[in-house]
Amino acid sequence: MTTLFPIQSTEAATPLDARGNHSPQYLRLDAETDGELPALPAATLIRGRASEALDLLPAESVRTVVTSPPYWSLRDYDIADPFGRDDTLRDYVTSIVADFRKLRRVLTDDGTVWLNIGDAYTSGNRRYRAPDRKNRARAMSVRPRTPHGLKPKDLIGLPWRVAFALQDDGWWVRSEVIWHKPNAHPESVGDRPTKAHETVFLLSRDQDYYYDVAAVRGTNDRRLRTVWDIPTRPRRRGRIPDDDHPAPMPINLARRCVTLTSEPGDVVLDPYAGSGTTLLAAAQLRRRWVGIELKVEFVRLIERRMSR
Ligand SMILES: C[S@@+](CC[C@H](N)C(=O)[O-])C[C@H]1O[C@@H](n2cnc3c(N)ncnc32)[C@H](O)[C@@H]1O
Repeated sequence: MTTLFPIQSTEAATPLDARGNHSPQYLRLDAETDGELPALPAATLIRGRASEALDLLPAESVRTVVTSPPYWSLRDYDIADPFGRDDTLRDYVTSIVADFRKLRRVLTDDGTVWLNIGDAYTSGNRRYRAPDRKNRARAMSVRPRTPHGLKPKDLIGLPWRVAFALQDDGWWVRSEVIWHKPNAHPESVGDRPTKAHETVFLLSRDQDYYYDVAAVRGTNDRRLRTVWDIPTRPRRRGRIPDDDHPAPMPINLARRCVTLTSEPGDVVLDPYAGSGTTLLAAAQLRRRWVGIELKVEFVRLIERRMSR
């Protein structure tokens, strides 16, 4: 028995098609559910913890995953026992590795994962972060202690710590993409360059995997390089409430990943779906999609976005 969490939404329960009809191809899971699903429809949205919800998906049903887990110590999503607030760095890495072991079961043998993960600095043992006027999600009621072996102000090297742990657990780390944000936020620091990138790893379950090298070309029609210039999504909070998630991925980043490692009709999964950017990219590209998200407000946000 897998325990999920109720959505209790007054919103439309299913995304609408172009004619405004509810799609029969949409499955929403938000209550106790027994056993694995026999097959996946065009669209599946699950409210729950990835660690539990992944058990519901059929084995070898997902061709590619595009995801961005909650970053360690970076944001407070205001949910009980959230992933990403594990007190020690080691616990955080262990949680990701455990969830990814479950991902491996649901991936096809030629399946892949695009893992977007940002780095962070140690807090220098400041135990909370004051609200930031420009980005309220950066406030945190509790911040983890400086990890053993690191010093105040140290860059943690989080992406590679996670990548090494996943490699030790059997994953192939096939590429490190630098997602360069030309419109990165200014930082009020005077003793280091302003951070303007995040890391996106391409991981595979096996040595050989599906990757369409011709699907996306780089500058001057050359093969795609490992530095991708993609602006972050401008925040339009207040005007379009559907965009109100603190850490949305740009749709162009999600579309590029989906295009490279899946084909129309394949299932694309995001186990930490947030505002559902990966799911939207998958639907636009005629893939089936599965989203898992813990926070009810974001589940509703996904349903609104997918219904537009
Ligand atoms: C970095 S955000 C993902 C943003 C997403 N890529 C987008 O474009 O909107 C991570 C999300 O994971 C959710 N989350 C946190 N812990 C989770 C868990 N254990 N299982 C599933 N989702 C979780 C958070 O609520 C948050 O929305």
